[in-house]
Amino acid sequence: MDDDRHVVSLDEVPADGTLLFTVRGDEGLEEVVLVRANDEVVAYKNYCQHWTDVRLDKGSGALVRNGELVCQKHAATFETGSGYCNFGPCEGSYLDAVEIDVVDGEVFVVEDDYAFERLGSSGEQTGSSGSRIDFTGT
Ligand code: FES
Repeated sequence: MDDDRHVVSLDEVPADGTLLFTVRGDEGLEEVVLVRANDEVVAYKNYCQHWTDVRLDKGSGALVRNGELVCQKHAATFETGSGYCNFGPCEGSYLDAVEIDVVDGEVFVVEDDYAFERLGSSGEQTGSSGSRIDFTGT
């Protein structure tokens, strides 16, 4: 596995919360969160499906409780395993998943066109256009 795809050791992913990292893709830097789901670790892009300029993890870990990742803006809850929103203004939507793999206890981002950039935030504002587009496209 390429070094530029290595994110972190699995042990460093918190049991309650998320671990934020940044990837570089075709469109520049993007933030991704790692979250535990049962015995697995999954990754999602770091924005809510209600208002896509709202980050789930603002740098100190998103709220995770009872197997759900919580958007603290309007309390939407997303199932950690699937990213499915089971409550809130964007109910029925899914978080954008990012493909990762775990090899020998190390987490790698394996999605094409993404390279690991750094742990933590991108240092950029999300939703740079200033507009808000929710999952219904409105
Ligand atoms: S912005 Fe996340 S629930 Fe409204």
